[in-house]
Amino acid sequence: MKIKKILNSNEEIIDKKIKVSAWIRSIRDQKNFAFIELNDGSCMMPLQGVIDASNEEFRKIYEISTGASVEVEGIIVKSPGNKQKYELKVEKINILGTCTEDYPLQKKRASFEFLRTIAHLRPRTNTFSAISRLRSSLVYHTHKFFHDKDFLYIQTPIITSSDTEGAGDLFRVTTLDDLKKNETLDFFKKKTYLTVSGQLNAEAFACALSDVYTFGPTFRAENSHTSRHLAEFWMMEPEMAFCDLLKDINVAEEYIKYMIKVALEKNLEDMKFFNNFIEKGLIERLENILKSNFEKTSYTDAIKILEKANMKFEYPVKWGCDLQSEHERYLVEKHFKKPVVVMDYPKEIKSFYMRDNDDGKTVAAMDILVPKIGELVGGSQREERYDVLVNKIERNNLDIENYKWYLELRKFGSVKHSGFGVGFERLIQFITGMENIRDVIAFPRYQGNCEF
Ligand code: 4AD
Ligand code: MG
Repeated sequence: MKIKKILNSNEEIIDKKIKVSAWIRSIRDQKNFAFIELNDGSCMMPLQGVIDASNEEFRKIYEISTGASVEVEGIIVKSPGNKQKYELKVEKINILGTCTEDYPLQKKRASFEFLRTIAHLRPRTNTFSAISRLRSSLVYHTHKFFHDKDFLYIQTPIITSSDTEGAGDLFRVTTLDDLKKNETLDFFKKKTYLTVSGQLNAEAFACALSDVYTFGPTFRAENSHTSRHLAEFWMMEPEMAFCDLLKDINVAEEYIKYMIKVALEKNLEDMKFFNNFIEKGLIERLENILKSNFEKTSYTDAIKILEKANMKFEYPVKWGCDLQSEHERYLVEKHFKKPVVVMDYPKEIKSFYMRDNDDGKTVAAMDILVPKIGELVGGSQREERYDVLVNKIERNNLDIENYKWYLELRKFGSVKHSGFGVGFERLIQFITGMENIRDVIAFPRYQGNCEF
């Protein structure tokens, strides 16, 4: 039986004989009896096993140590301590795998930097098992959120020939051993890359099925060594036909709040752990976000606020500049003190597909900025006018041949449509308070690092 199920059972489980398969978190020999803490990853709380010295199996505790895997049989009894409801009166221990002395996860708490070097073992720690359970729950509820709204889940391709964001930070996919060879000799007979976003493909489906989303891994060869960038990360991207920027923002706000609610309702034990050990006050911070409405501001007004701010920014602020994380965090943490949606950015700093506003200077873009992280969501209303889009592709120096199909969506029954992308790891950081994005994904990939 899974430990979570045992600890969540009603009292009918008392006196029942059960078998648990787990790893030993700690073992304490008290001469007349020994305590064994068992953890199988199903929940944070270990199951305490108690074995009597009079039991013939007792000798086995000298063969096992922290990290060993065992199958333990016994009777569930009420725990005399107040740490847990039940404990296991051990009758039989079956040693599955002993653990050698050089096991790196002994008692003392290891730093996250060190744990990154043993990413294959860190799921055995409280922090990483809690993150894994939360991630799994939020993925499941992401699908639930969109299915409940009748969105269709589209699996968009990983290999692509177009650079969605036009930022040029692409990983090339090739079977050529000599990159100087002509690309027509390559597997796909053209240059191909790992996708940076499923958006353009999702748009094709939205322009037929109305409301869709894609959720998968995305790849960026970005040269940014920050605590918020990965080379491989997961992005959740809804795309909605007949939808303008304001509706788009509403869906994003509702989704983020839903994710917070799920974490606090379905993963409360793990959230309490994050609240106690990762970020003090985390739960209160999240509850306040649930109660507040996200603030909406235009890029132009945001720049005015930043110019008036009594702050020395590393990157000077003026209309037309890209917002740096220091600017985003000032807006969210110091000025508005809640999540902020910044809209209508200058078209020069945003992607080619965003819809031109009537002022001729800005596009219908929106970024959602949150405390501690900065940009969590990037979205926009898409340019649905054929001629305007052709112009934008050309202005961005993109090869129009690659976007022929994308342009056809604007020829055959074009509609107003919008969408956004949520960086899933940034969402996990935001909800757990974890400082570094490398610590909220199973096996992080970043520049100079692709271990495990
Ligand atoms: O703002 P971005 O670049 O937007 C898009 O890719 C759009 N095509 C999305 C859409 O409209 N469908 O990326 C979206 C989000 C960012 O707000 C950020 O949270 C995350 O993806 N993100 C990253 N997360 C981790 N590591 C990186 N290198 C990231 N780059 C972007
Ligand atoms: Mg962005």
